[in-house]
Amino acid sequence: MSLAKYTVTAALPYANGPLHLGHVAGVYLPADIFVRFLRLKGHDVAFICGSDEHGAAITLRAKKEGTTPQEIVDKYNAIIGKSFQDFNIGFDIFHRTSAEIHHQTSQDFFKVLYEKGKFTEETSEQYYDEEFQQFLADRYITGECPKCQNPSAYGDQCEKCGSALSPTDLKNPVSTLSGKTPVMRQTSHWYLPMQNHEEWLKEWIKDGKLDGVQQHNPKEWKNQVVGQCMSWIDGGLRPRAMTRDLDWGVKVPLPNAEGKVLYVWLDAPIGYISATKQWAQDNNKNWEDYWKGDRKLVHFIGKDNIVFHAIIFPILLKDHGDLILPDNVPAYEFLNLEGDKFSTSRNWAVWLHEYLERYPNKVDELKYVLTSIAPETKDAEFTWKEYQTRINSELADILGNFVNRALVLTNKYYEGAIPAAGNFTDEDQKVLDEVKAFPAKIESLLYAYKLRDAQAEAMNLARLGNKYLADTEPWKLVKTDPERVKTIMHIALQITGNLAVVLQPFLPNTAEKLKQALKLADTSWTKAGAIDIASVGTIIEQPGILFEKIDDSLVEAEIQFLKDAQVANKAFEPVKEEITFEDFTKMDIRLGTILEAEKVKKADKLLKLLVDTGIDKRTVVSGIAEHYTPEEVVGKTVQILLNLAPRKIKGIESQGMILMAENEKGELSFMAPEKGFGAGGDVR
Ligand code: 2FM
Ligand code: ZN
Repeated sequence: MSLAKYTVTAALPYANGPLHLGHVAGVYLPADIFVRFLRLKGHDVAFICGSDEHGAAITLRAKKEGTTPQEIVDKYNAIIGKSFQDFNIGFDIFHRTSAEIHHQTSQDFFKVLYEKGKFTEETSEQYYDEEFQQFLADRYITGECPKCQNPSAYGDQCEKCGSALSPTDLKNPVSTLSGKTPVMRQTSHWYLPMQNHEEWLKEWIKDGKLDGVQQHNPKEWKNQVVGQCMSWIDGGLRPRAMTRDLDWGVKVPLPNAEGKVLYVWLDAPIGYISATKQWAQDNNKNWEDYWKGDRKLVHFIGKDNIVFHAIIFPILLKDHGDLILPDNVPAYEFLNLEGDKFSTSRNWAVWLHEYLERYPNKVDELKYVLTSIAPETKDAEFTWKEYQTRINSELADILGNFVNRALVLTNKYYEGAIPAAGNFTDEDQKVLDEVKAFPAKIESLLYAYKLRDAQAEAMNLARLGNKYLADTEPWKLVKTDPERVKTIMHIALQITGNLAVVLQPFLPNTAEKLKQALKLADTSWTKAGAIDIASVGTIIEQPGILFEKIDDSLVEAEIQFLKDAQVANKAFEPVKEEITFEDFTKMDIRLGTILEAEKVKKADKLLKLLVDTGIDKRTVVSGIAEHYTPEEVVGKTVQILLNLAPRKIKGIESQGMILMAENEKGELSFMAPEKGFGAGGDVR
């Protein structure tokens, strides 16, 4: 039977920010491991990615940075592309959806569906921001998710529960442009009548069949993917607009479609096809070979992308005709960081490009840790402590230690020449049989997308080697039985050679070092399990220390770095929305002198103050107890907002607010007048 052919895609990252470790662990690294393995096995593979450069993710970022969408995508496409290269992710192409070939491909795709009558044109009332004169779809509108009550769901999707939404589904919708409640206005769009596709989708997702013909093995799909899809389909699919009223994106290729572009989730997955076209053009290939006929299409994605890759894109592909549907959609859960969600806006992230700047020589180390904790079936967590432990006690103590012993002893005893084996003992034979059995285990895990277990299994081979040396103790035996030691070292070097093969998908740089150390000619997967992979007589080379131990100081520095980044982020919060002078004069701010102060019971942060305002004496509850003791504040002259509506705090009516300054460390300070004015003065 000939080997299956593959087109493997990794979700196109939005070019609106750099990549963090969550993206890497949950999409790009697993895709890269899978593809490296397929290539070693000899499968014909195309590995496709690029940046997603349209949609509100980009335009809103441009607005925030005060620049144009084009500048944003140019900037982040370059940063992301470089970090993929530096992290040794082996795409055949990293393309971009702003490319001309992509616009053309998406428009052609749209026209094919349009001409086949696959869209319906509908005029309806849509949310509109009068101030910004713009219709509000996707990320331009937020509100409460009707399914999970997340208060900040987007107009096209709730990122918390993954539901695909329409703006009119949101409760309490608000424009993200003006912050105001939008009005309704008429507009017309082209819709994909998804409700017409429920039947075949069900059969395809649950049974893997299309028109009764088996397409894929549904048991190979993750439960989470099948479960999410079935629950959406069972909840009833609805027509979904495939166009938008925006000026950034792929223009709708129809007359009378001025000011309309394709929905970003229509053009983005077509980006996989246009990227393939570009790559095919550059390499004298035919793109159709990668999207038609007998070939497996595999989409690596994060769980928030499931609906788009397992329902919407398959509908589009099927409607188009001729094109293959995904064979699998391995979707990953989310990775958290040090007890909290990764957050771009809060700058709670380890950015890949920054990691690579700080540790350019620790690429495999990061790959290893991320695969060990990959969020394959449930959310997972990255901590710097675990990073340290995994590197020190697994990579260094097991893999590094074994390889180092095997190579150093060979140098010492045989001037680096790989010794021939004598007779194998039962113990040797047992170890060799285990070596032979490893590849099949690793391989079946890899084909089943269980990459975490596959890596652990590959590491078990290093464990086996370590144990073999520890049990046989050649360093002791060498004095009494040097012939036996030759056999032991021969076996240890065969294990090292096998590691050079099976580690390639996971730790390509390390595997390459082992390959060079043993001067291996062929490390394709057919060599996995061979117990003559390292040739007798070859003079080995020392690769040096494979993995340096991680010091506590690195862990501490990284945690401090995270904290500092938060502080810096806070200091650069954008200026609030403009107000008028009249707005300002509505506030009655005066100087007051604190006459009495006491702690509020059962409230660590609160002080109850009696303040002389010049016109009266009033009670104010203030959240300053963690910064000032009652004794410290009595007698101080402070600024007080007098006409703030009274509020009950812990049962006490607070009749105003003391104004405080806060620095970047979160410390508070009163703002006393420098000339020593007393109570009653106006603040303007
Ligand atoms: O969620 C995201 O980051 C999207 N940019 C993924 C797009 S995947 C594909 F369809 F292009
Ligand atoms: Zn939700």
